[in-house]
Amino acid sequence: MKAPALAKLSIPGPIDPYFLQYLQQSGPRPLTKWLHYLTVYSRELGPFRTRPVTFLEIGVFRGGSMPFWRGYFHPESVLVFVDINPDCADLEIEGTHVRIGDQSDPEFLARLVAEFGPFDCILDDGSHVCAHQITSFERLWPHLTDGGLYMVEDTHTSYWKAYGGGYRQQGSFIEYAKDLLDAMHAWYSEQDTAFPFDPRAQSLSSVRVYDSIVAIEKRWQPDPPAPFAASNGALEIDRTWLAKTKAGARDDDTSR
Ligand SMILES: C[S@@+](CC[C@H](N)C(=O)[O-])C[C@H]1O[C@@H](n2cnc3c(N)ncnc32)[C@H](O)[C@@H]1O
Repeated sequence: MKAPALAKLSIPGPIDPYFLQYLQQSGPRPLTKWLHYLTVYSRELGPFRTRPVTFLEIGVFRGGSMPFWRGYFHPESVLVFVDINPDCADLEIEGTHVRIGDQSDPEFLARLVAEFGPFDCILDDGSHVCAHQITSFERLWPHLTDGGLYMVEDTHTSYWKAYGGGYRQQGSFIEYAKDLLDAMHAWYSEQDTAFPFDPRAQSLSSVRVYDSIVAIEKRWQPDPPAPFAASNGALEIDRTWLAKTKAGARDDDTSR
């Protein structure tokens, strides 16, 4: 079937024209994604298009995403693809690297990092098993560049038992993402026993949850966030505000 015009696809949200163009001109390799992911890619990956990046996708299948990403990113980008299936090694195309291994194997991931890291963008479209998604994230997150983006795809498996999911199931990736939300806000904890400072707060700048994709952005911020007050062209920054909170000296005026 010829790919229909964008309007007929009825995908919500603005979409980078590249994606529609690609759908209409795709080659013989099947690209297997969900339609609404194109909106998410458009929002999340746009800033990474304008310069050479190192991109890693876990999950090759029949190699359809290789020309897709090759055409999307800057031509001098390094594009790395990983799959557990050895047959995928034959799918490498110019400008791409395929490595065969298990995304839940820390030693394989360490070798991958040693060869290609750090990465600017990581997209996990592999087994979709929650435990694997978590292992890959934990092993690869430290090797994401400052300003980098880690996306986990098909997180609806967090609701499927066969993948280690279920409604509010401990160990699902969605529950793990909720924990990342807490970690990101650990600067603000008033409960040191129940919610001690979590050093992940220093690198988690955003956890954006879409239907079936979680996008996690890294920005290194070693010091506690600081509020500011701007008036009459002057700026006051209170870098000790959170420390004062710890000392119990905070009042309820968060607008200072
Ligand atoms: C959904 S497909 C990838 C689709 C591809 N990214 C695309 O867009 O066309 C998932 C792939 O993950 C691979 N896979 C499954 N378990 C894996 C694991 N533990 N480690 C690495 N790859 C795995 C499968 O062999 C399969 O090729």
